[in-house]
Amino acid sequence: MSDMIFRPGLEGVPVTKSSICDIDGNKGELRYRGYPIAELASQSSFLETAYLLIWGNLPNPQQLRDFEKEVQMHRRVSFRVRDMMKCFPATGHPMDALQSSAASLGLFYSRRAIDNPQYVYDAVVRLIAKIPTMVAAFQLIRKGQDPIQPRDDLPYSSNFLYMLTEREQDPLAARVFDRCLILHAEHSLNASTFSARVTASTLTDPYAVVASAVGTLAGPLHGGANEDVIEMLQEIGTPNKAGAFLDKAIANKRKIMGFGHREYRVKDPRASILQVLAEELFARFGKDDLYDVAIAVEKEAANRLGTKGIYPNVDFYSGLVYRKLGISRDLFTPVFAISRVAGWLAHWREQLGANRIFRPSQIYTGVKSRSWNPPEERSSSKETKLKTSHP
Ligand code: COA
Repeated sequence: MSDMIFRPGLEGVPVTKSSICDIDGNKGELRYRGYPIAELASQSSFLETAYLLIWGNLPNPQQLRDFEKEVQMHRRVSFRVRDMMKCFPATGHPMDALQSSAASLGLFYSRRAIDNPQYVYDAVVRLIAKIPTMVAAFQLIRKGQDPIQPRDDLPYSSNFLYMLTEREQDPLAARVFDRCLILHAEHSLNASTFSARVTASTLTDPYAVVASAVGTLAGPLHGGANEDVIEMLQEIGTPNKAGAFLDKAIANKRKIMGFGHREYRVKDPRASILQVLAEELFARFGKDDLYDVAIAVEKEAANRLGTKGIYPNVDFYSGLVYRKLGISRDLFTPVFAISRVAGWLAHWREQLGANRIFRPSQIYTGVKSRSWNPPEERSSSKETKLKTSHP
């Protein structure tokens, strides 16, 4: 056992075979099921892309109409889920609310039917349909308002923005939002997707799979980074302060949020597309002053971090887009989850297709063998307590 190779963070260790998403981190290329991300982001819709990811091929017109219709019919959530959400503390993070409400769906739909294709289809439809409704519902509930019911006459993204903001959006805003969902829908074996696959490998229900992935996505090194990017840009304040900020952060070994990626050594292709989307919104609805700060950070960071292959990732410009769409900062990661559920479900299906439960090994570094001794013979120093309770 001692000659096992340990790779922290499983870097470079394949843990599955997958035909869903392909990344070339040196060229900055990303493809879903073979289709370049830029093509999907400009030509497809989120629901079409979700179908592609989950079922493997682009739908024909009838399949797409059926899928859109099914998703539309399942947008509502039970009043019991809404009532449960009303008991959540208004100060709680919306990701925690989403994780709990996604898990609660497992209470309503029968478990352990994952061999039944109809159950799988229905679960896919329900999760894609209901997650946006739950995100929007918590946003209103925490403001002391009743959730807004989904509108059947509005397409998927317009309906979400309507439920969230209580008004119909400009078609450009809805289209930009839909393209953001396409960009975030899948990214191979990132932490939340890995989490989803590990959970799926136990053959539990898909609601538990998604709830576990939501919990993983919530962390600041993963989906939570775009919240921190906005905070960082606000802290920098003006473009001329970007260089000094970076120098200080790098000297203090502080990570620059929205930069760096395990897979990419160049600028994340999604960051480039999001930057264009931000500019489209600014041209129509007015510029966000933080955009100039972001541009300055990207330029200054290239001189300081570029040699290490650290460039903007997907989170660097997405927050600026969401701000312009009127989405509050702590909803950025729930919005990410609305989209990434498509990738999680694709991996859920793929995992079930060739399942073996995940059970990695470890290299044990603890004490080899000890004998129990009575409490009065044990050391009572604080240091020992800390060491034994948190090795
Ligand atoms: N700012 C400054 N330095 C960074 C950096 C960043 N954002 N990201 C990585 N680095 C540096 C590390 O300090 C380390 O340098 P060293 O070798 O001199 O010690 C090196 O690059 C490798 O970093 P590491 O954290 O080991 O890379 P990773 O592959 O484990 O982590 C991330 C990838 C995404 C977690 C990491 O880049 C990060 O924390 N980025 C900021 C958070 C973020 O934007 N997350 C969203 C990801 S989509």
